[in-house]
Amino acid sequence: MKTVIEPFRIKVVEPIRMTSPAERKKLLAAAGYNLFQVDAENVIIDLLTDSGTAAMSDSQWSGIMRGDESYAGARSYYRFRDKVQEITGFRHVIPTHQGRAAERILFGLLAEKGKVIPSNTHFDTTRANIEIQGARAVDCLVPEGTDPRALHPFKGNIDLEQLERVIREAGAENVPLCMLTVTNNSCGGQPVSMDNIRRTKRLLKRFSVPLFLDACRFAENAFFIKKREPGFEKKSCLQIARQMFSYADGCTMSAKKDALVNIGGFLAMNDDELAVQARNVLIVTEGFPTYGGLAGRDLEAIACGLEEVLHEDYLAYRIRTAEYMGDKLDAAGVPFVKPPGGHAIYLDAGSFASHIPAEQFPGQALACALYLEGGIRSCEIGSVMFGKQAPPPMELVRLAFPRRVYTQSHFDYVIEVILEVFKNAKKLRGMKLAYEAPTLRHFTARFAYL
Ligand code: F0G
Repeated sequence: MKTVIEPFRIKVVEPIRMTSPAERKKLLAAAGYNLFQVDAENVIIDLLTDSGTAAMSDSQWSGIMRGDESYAGARSYYRFRDKVQEITGFRHVIPTHQGRAAERILFGLLAEKGKVIPSNTHFDTTRANIEIQGARAVDCLVPEGTDPRALHPFKGNIDLEQLERVIREAGAENVPLCMLTVTNNSCGGQPVSMDNIRRTKRLLKRFSVPLFLDACRFAENAFFIKKREPGFEKKSCLQIARQMFSYADGCTMSAKKDALVNIGGFLAMNDDELAVQARNVLIVTEGFPTYGGLAGRDLEAIACGLEEVLHEDYLAYRIRTAEYMGDKLDAAGVPFVKPPGGHAIYLDAGSFASHIPAEQFPGQALACALYLEGGIRSCEIGSVMFGKQAPPPMELVRLAFPRRVYTQSHFDYVIEVILEVFKNAKKLRGMKLAYEAPTLRHFTARFAYL
């Protein structure tokens, strides 16, 4: 097999500022050993998130010039709406400034005290938008999803028995909808199979509960289905995506991921009544229904990005990137969540630094070491982020890949840095909190080495 090359040429470049280990040591100490507090220009390879960090194509940038900035009925809105409808088939398409704005509108209308909203795994903002309404967000992930070593092809699936139990216990009238996050970000960017989506729909139908997709990474999920699920080898990713959406009654979308743009999102659905209510909220909090908190040019870029993201060459390269890194790490014995997800590699810090107990934040220690060694910014997803009450099931460090931004040599560099830190893993030191905010502490916490 030949190298899967980046299927694009580079027309505009953004210089990276190099830093020395000595400089990084000072910068990290000044940031309280919290990578969210390090300025971006002091990062060599930024893998903090794949959200809003994509490089836009020449077509998208031309779309920016074509953007129609009319307040009402802009041409760019119709182009955006038509593209979303072509892929999702949903009747109503409501633009929002990003994914969580769509979540806030949806759950503001459907969630309240006494309601229960199940999912394979709710992303943090989804959970927060449910809980802020007084409702309960319940994760029903298959057991393989929390085992970093389980080589299941669809570790993002929802556990249907658990889902049925949750609905029966709550009473179907108290379950306004069920969400499926595709791919499942919080469990490692793992895909959900078509069979699982279909069965979820079938189960929900018996209880008259609507299904919504959290569709941020729908194209990556479609590609995994093509590669891993029998019967889909010959289907195009667009056909697969359409089939995924055909089982759903609506979706929330952060366009900052699989629409290849830096800002934007939408809420889409078939329910006419709900759509009227959603648009009414939108007008008060986001903007008129044909722009919803975005500029016309943003809508144009989203329409174009949604077209490009489904190109098979792009998706093959995209998914290969994580697989390539996974192969190299695996060969060296580095523990990570297997198989690799679509948008990121999740290092298993609990095994990587097995001498550091959860309460001494092995993930934070590893994330800091990657910065000190190579100026790489990653994100702890473990006891710092979720362990305020009890340690979470896994101590992970996410290396999320911006779309079309870094080349293979950048990834080779990242691999070299990880291997170097792995060689000296026993020298990693546990950490303690020096400051924590009452909520979402990971953004502003300060740490010290023990
Ligand atoms: N749903 C999922 C699965 C996400 O991953 C995100 C964002 C959102 C919803 C919210 O979208 O940021 O546009 O409001 N994930 C980013 C990340 C922040 O780094 O994983 P948003």
